[in-house]
Amino acid sequence: MNIELTEEQIAVRDAARDFAQNVLKPGVIDRDNKQEFPAEEVKQLGELGFMGMMVDPKYGGGGMDTVSYVLAMEEISKIDASTSVCMSVNNSLVCWGLEKFGTEEQKQKYLVPLAKGEKIGAFCLSEPEAGSDATSQRTTAIDKGDHYLLNGTKNWITNGNSASYYIVIAQTDVEKGHRGINAFIVEKEWEGFTVGAKEDKLGIRGSDTHTLMFSDVKVPKENRIGEDGFGFKFAMMVLSGGRIGIAAQALGIASGAYELALAYSKERAAFGKPIHKHQAIAFKLADMATEIEAARLLCLKAANIKDKGENFDKASAMAKVFASRVAMETTIEAVQVHGGYGYVKEYHVERLMRDAKITQIYEGTTEVQKIVISRAVLNE
Ligand code: CAA
Repeated sequence: MNIELTEEQIAVRDAARDFAQNVLKPGVIDRDNKQEFPAEEVKQLGELGFMGMMVDPKYGGGGMDTVSYVLAMEEISKIDASTSVCMSVNNSLVCWGLEKFGTEEQKQKYLVPLAKGEKIGAFCLSEPEAGSDATSQRTTAIDKGDHYLLNGTKNWITNGNSASYYIVIAQTDVEKGHRGINAFIVEKEWEGFTVGAKEDKLGIRGSDTHTLMFSDVKVPKENRIGEDGFGFKFAMMVLSGGRIGIAAQALGIASGAYELALAYSKERAAFGKPIHKHQAIAFKLADMATEIEAARLLCLKAANIKDKGENFDKASAMAKVFASRVAMETTIEAVQVHGGYGYVKEYHVERLMRDAKITQIYEGTTEVQKIVISRAVLNE
């Protein structure tokens, strides 16, 4: 694997870094406190081409590779993981899935505005009783001839209120198990679709996480994605790509916390010298830097495999399981390096520590990633 970045990739990374530092950072503590969705910031991200980075320009996207996406996700997540999860879901779970498996009509109608960042997308798989066990869908879509009738509840949906278009996974034929599951594009304005209250979360508090209710929502036949019964495989494939985005998010949370700890260790003195001159702190920084470098390499490797068009399921699961652990451990240590200051909001690291936890949960828990990895290595 070539790990030298191209000039184009470096330019993408630098643009994302500038945006994060100049646009996202000033309001990030306030948005976290108020649980405020970064609507204006996401709009600007769209204008810069970050909401449909990998989509072909003929569908309004940036035509970039997955490596560039990882670089941008890392930079945005260093500062604001609430914004980067919105970006990740739109890019990986919604745009990528529509571009790869949607019809030309679906692409023109839905992908183009999503890739341009004019509209936001959401991906609806999780249910009150179907999280990791994703085949146990209770939401049903009954075939009524020219349309399906959609009924059920979806939980923990990122972009739940801010989205305009939703990819909803539902059971169309219980007898067929996972082969009776389909994916549908649903519009927010359709009758019978209700957005529930916003979740009050530990971290990524600015992100827009809601329960969604569907009551006799009429979904036109042409809004099904792929052949009848393709929905579960569709969900697995887009989630596999999504895990590269979340791994990069975890990497960004870790590297953001590390950069803050490093800077603080040079400013803060104790026992007559800057704290980084105490080995207790220097060794923490050495461990953080090493683990982050390893996480970055796993993210880039997964992105590289995806860009080559090869199977990336194992690589994306490995990147996510490792990077999310590094995010958790690094942010805890970054708070420790800051001492009492680390425990107050002004210094940012306590937020990064709270944000880190979700990377071990969403788009497949750490335990789910280990199922994927162990199955892959046992079949090798
Ligand atoms: N690509 C293509 N097909 C796949 C696949 C993949 N990556 N993974 C599985 N499949 C296929 C299998 O081949 C199988 O098909 P056949 O029977 O035709 O061979 C079918 O799907 C069922 O697969 P499994 O038997 O492996 O399914 P399982 O029930 O054992 O589940 C699992 C495996 C890995 C645990 C899976 O259920 C899973 O990934 N669960 C986690 C779901 C998840 O990530 N939820 C997150 C919610 S979304 C979210 O968080 C978004 C957000 O808002 C941020």
